[in-house]
Amino acid sequence: MMTRATIKLLLASTAALLMAGCERPPIAVSQTGFRGTAMEQVYNPRTLATQASLNTAPAVAEALVDVPGTPRAGAVYQNVKVLGDLSVGEFARTMSAITEWVAPQQGCLYCHVAGNFADDSVYTKVVARKMLQMTQKVNSGWKTHVAETGVTCYTCHRGNNIPKEIWFKPTEQKSAAGGMGNDFGQNKAAKTVGLSSLPYDPFTPYFLDSKPIRVNGKEALAMSGTASNRSSIKQAEHTYGLMIHWSNSLGVNCTYCHNTQAFAAWGANATPQRATAWYGIRMARELNNEYMVPLTNVFPAGRLGPTGDVAKANCATCHQGAYKPLYGAAMAKHYPAMYAPVKAPDAPAAVPVADAAQFVPAAGKVEVSAK
Ligand code: HEC
Ligand code: HEC
Ligand code: HEC
Ligand code: HEC
Repeated sequence: MMTRATIKLLLASTAALLMAGCERPPIAVSQTGFRGTAMEQVYNPRTLATQASLNTAPAVAEALVDVPGTPRAGAVYQNVKVLGDLSVGEFARTMSAITEWVAPQQGCLYCHVAGNFADDSVYTKVVARKMLQMTQKVNSGWKTHVAETGVTCYTCHRGNNIPKEIWFKPTEQKSAAGGMGNDFGQNKAAKTVGLSSLPYDPFTPYFLDSKPIRVNGKEALAMSGTASNRSSIKQAEHTYGLMIHWSNSLGVNCTYCHNTQAFAAWGANATPQRATAWYGIRMARELNNEYMVPLTNVFPAGRLGPTGDVAKANCATCHQGAYKPLYGAAMAKHYPAMYAPVKAPDAPAAVPVADAAQFVPAAGKVEVSAK
């Protein structure tokens, strides 16, 4: 027979088990959408404090005055293809900054051959040159996403040779149940999709390919032989997997961008952040296809993924749990090398605001509380 004490102990330990999934108060709530739409963010100040310490920007090296008429790096050095317009002083300042951001332990020789800095035979130098161009493209061509905050090498690298958050295509895995057959890319409680059973590669279809991010079809169901509504359950599952990645990468709830009564809506039933995110996925896709994939053969085999693909970026590569990388610290503007002498930004067509008209709130006036 169980004594009263054992029962008490049992009850207490069961309660402890049940509470393990809960967070200890206080919980802070902040409103991000119209009153009454439940568009709110739920934060735990302790989690935020941990996050904040991971997202502090390093000090900016003292700026140099660029005296016009002084020699440019392109004229002084032998093999400068991207940073030729910088003054020699600014060029040196840039080299020491990128060393601190990407290879603080290894130093200059992570990318250079001792005694011949013009030599391109270390692969990391070739990668770094492409990275310079990629960073310039982000800052000069994707202001629709990064605004005046911009990015530097540090945004992704944070003092590491390899950024902490990268992704590769997974290999085909067997089904969990019988060890036989294909698992159709899901049902694995995968970290990429917040330990849900959703498809565990929410990246390839959207960060490399441009599959539609859709749940609701816009046309009526297909009659046999006619091409109309192509939206499928599979597509919905991938969309939800992707959305979980977005939420996790930014440390926000779905309601940071959506009114959950109408996920597909723009305008008053979405926040401005939803439009920023819309540009973000297109930017990330371009970074992977135009900068990362072409580097595949430059990397040694050991740096490639299980199917031989190059490491790629997703939202977490820059954001690392913060709604803005490094909580919006604007480092890039202190380093002219991070901006291209620009051609016109070739951002994609505007956000599909056509959908917005359907969802104008009844009470006319927009009232969004400050964060
Ligand atoms: C992460 C890689 C990386 C690190 C670390 C690095 N560099 Fe460089 N360095 C480059 C790249 C890329 C170029 C070529 C830039 C271009 O083409 O515009 C370059 C070019 C140079 C050149 C011009 C050589 C020539 O004649 O063409 C000098 C000088 C130089 N770096 C010095 C340094 C010094 C000093 C350090 C350490 C404080 C350093 N670099 C650290 C990537 C790096
Ligand atoms: C958008 C994120 C992002 C930015 C910004 C970025 N990088 Fe990278 N970088 C990556 C990814 C992803 C890789 C591939 C990781 C790997 O090497 O496996 C990488 C790899 C590298 C490597 C090769 C490391 C190795 O050991 O294989 C070098 C060197 C490098 N980056 C330098 C730079 C420099 C210099 C800058 C700034 C001019 C920069 N990166 C900016 C994402 C970024
Ligand atoms: C950072 C902003 C952001 C967050 C956070 C976010 N979404 Fe989205 N969501 C978007 C954007 C932007 C699109 C449209 C993407 C496109 O069309 O390229 C979208 C599309 C969707 C769609 C497809 C709607 C349609 O047109 O059929 C669904 C469903 C959705 N999100 C659900 C969610 C859920 C569930 C969460 C939380 C787990 C979430 N979203 C978190 C921005 C966000
Ligand atoms: C190359 C780095 C980089 C990548 C990759 C990236 N972002 Fe961002 N994102 C930024 C920067 C920088 C800002 C800050 C812009 C500003 O200050 O307004 C930002 C801002 C945002 C904001 C606005 C936050 C706010 O409260 O105003 C959203 C939403 C967002 N990103 C979503 C995404 C999503 C979703 C993805 C992946 C599809 C993504 N980002 C990928 C760099 C990046």
